[in-house]
Amino acid sequence: MKTILAKTAGFCFGVKRAVDTVYNEIALNEKNKIYTFGPIIHNDVVVSDLKEKGVDVINNAEELEGLKEATVIIRSHGVPKKIYEIIRKNNLKLVDATCPFVKKIHEIVEKHSKEGYEIIIVGDEKHPEVMGITGWSCKAPLVIKNASEADALKLDKNKKYCMVSQTTFNHNNFKNIVEIIEKKGYDILVLNTICNATHERQEEAERISKEVDVMIVIGNKDSSNTRKLYEICSKNCRETCYIQTVDDLDSCNFNNSTCVGITAGASTPNNIIEEVQNNVRNEF
Ligand code: F3S
Repeated sequence: MKTILAKTAGFCFGVKRAVDTVYNEIALNEKNKIYTFGPIIHNDVVVSDLKEKGVDVINNAEELEGLKEATVIIRSHGVPKKIYEIIRKNNLKLVDATCPFVKKIHEIVEKHSKEGYEIIIVGDEKHPEVMGITGWSCKAPLVIKNASEADALKLDKNKKYCMVSQTTFNHNNFKNIVEIIEKKGYDILVLNTICNATHERQEEAERISKEVDVMIVIGNKDSSNTRKLYEICSKNCRETCYIQTVDDLDSCNFNNSTCVGITAGASTPNNIIEEVQNNVRNEF
């Protein structure tokens, strides 16, 4: 079978960097116990592999407060400023794998809120990245996630505002929200902090799914970016199948097909992608 593998399939730059950071830290073999603040990625295979290698996950500031002589790795999503303060206060070793694109947003938010701007974040307030960004503002920021919330927004015309976006926010929706708010005539500085990795992955998946007989999308069932890839591909290729690992390949229908496209969500490790590609190429 001929296969076309998307170049953007799997880990983006920031996630790859964070996962590599954890494995590098393990290789140092220091006496400190290693923790990641939140799971390093939403992939059970990787998280349990790390657990076997002695890396545990802590989930909140309270758990962090209880640690002694530990190494704490911050994942690509980043964390609020107060987490760094606890790490410093407790003399823990900090390994910061915050994606540089997210770090940039922290810097923007901290600087502008110190200069008196009110911060507006466009994104999902429950997403860890947005929770992290929130924690760099001097005052509680406003978080809006869609056009109707933008419509309903009532700001103070005597204040200045600075608006940033969650890195994975959709470009068109962001543009739409900006247009709605700008029409209201507020003093607002808009900084588009969307990262292109998601957009590029989606565009490539769309292009490939138009050219193939079967399209395979690999990723965790609860990964929202993988689900989105599946939706995009299903529109162009009737035989689009959503799998988590090579074991699920039986659920795909390869009848009468000669060419298979493969893409994967942002938390899918390379070895899983390669395994699927080799299997499709050789077994079907
Ligand atoms: Fe990935 Fe960093 Fe962009 S984590 S999606 S490269 S902001």
